[in-house]
Order: sequence, then structure tokens, then C-alpha cells
Amino acid sequence: MRGQALSMLDIEEGDRVLDVGCGTGFATEGILEHTENVHGLDQSPHQIEKAWAKLGKHDPVSFYLGDAERLPFRDDSFDIVWSSGSIEYWPNPVEALREIRRITKPGGQVLIVGPNYPKTGIMQKVADSIMLFYDAEEADRMFAEAGFEAVEHRLMGPSYDPDIAITSVAEVTD
Ligand SMILES: C[S@@+](CC[C@H](N)C(=O)[O-])C[C@H]1O[C@@H](n2cnc3c(N)ncnc32)[C@H](O)[C@@H]1O
Repeated sequence: MRGQALSMLDIEEGDRVLDVGCGTGFATEGILEHTENVHGLDQSPHQIEKAWAKLGKHDPVSFYLGDAERLPFRDDSFDIVWSSGSIEYWPNPVEALREIRRITKPGGQVLIVGPNYPKTGIMQKVADSIMLFYDAEEADRMFAEAGFEAVEHRLMGPSYDPDIAITSVAEVTD
């Protein structure tokens, strides 16, 4: 799934890429195969320590402790911002998406992987009671509210559950 999501981006060698909610650095490691300028941010010191153990503390990835809703970076700082499996935990996803848009350069790309809203009634009840699950329509609403224009969505997942995740890619236009 990581590879499928990465294939939706045009990462060029040298591009500055941020992984928001990087956790232990699983996706961060995949991004490193495309560019050496990789940064990871997470709000959990525990997760960041595990990422340090795997990838080193400062090199090749720069890690930051921080909140997706208040990103500690200047406007237009990154060519690409990636976030996988984290949006469902953000108290205000639109605020975080607005922050992500702010720190992405014009012409840059933003990719967000989150849990796709289930199709069946029982699973919908379970989903509604635990955390954010969303479909393409809801993703369009969140991205539009955060100031994004065109957004492309793709459902993905392992062969036993191919629609479990929704991956959205948006280009920052100005
Ligand atoms: C399920 S893990 C996903 C880790 C990784 N991105 C991956 O693809 O394997 C979710 C991560 O999001 C982080 N997280 C949750 N809310 C956050 C927030 N508001 N700001 C930054 N990180 C957050 C958690 O600490 C956790 O490390």
C-alpha cells in the first residue's frame, strides 16, 4: 500500500518532503528511496524515539516533535507533504490540512492516507463510534474547506481488503 500511495506522487531527487504523523518511520523509509531530503514530525515522543532507533536521530531524516494542527515550519517550506494513518487521530483535520497547505510550496503536492468509510451498516456503526472514517465526498469537503482546489482520491488496501484506505492527493495552486 505504501508503494501504491508513493506512485501517486511525483517525487524528484532533492525534493524536500515532510511526513506528518510519521510514527516509527515506516512511510518515511519509503519516501527516502525517492529523495534524501526527508523530514518527519509526530506528536508522540515515544513514536519518535522508535523512529530514531530505526533511522537515526538527525541523518538521513530530520525529526520534529509537533502537532499536525500547528506545524513548526515557515510558509512554502516543502515540495511534498505526506501523511499516512494519522488524520483519523487529529481532533480538527481541516485545521491540520490548512496548516499542511500553508507549508507546501505552490506547485507542490499533498498526500493523505486515511481510513475509508465502510460500506455496510454494522461496520459504519463501529466506524462512527471510534474515530474519523471518511469517503471521497467527505474528503472533498475537508480539503475544500482547508483551501485546496483539485483533489484526486484512490481507494487502496491489501488483497483481502482492497478498499480499506482512501488516499487523497492535491496540488497546491498558489
Ligand atoms: C497509526 S500511526 C501511523 C504512523 C505512520 N505514519 C505509518 O504510516 O505507519 C499514527 C501516528 O500519528 C501520530 N499523531 C496522531 N495525532 C497527531 C497530531 N495531532 N500531530 C502529529 N502526529 C499525530 C501518532 O502519534 C502516531 O505516531
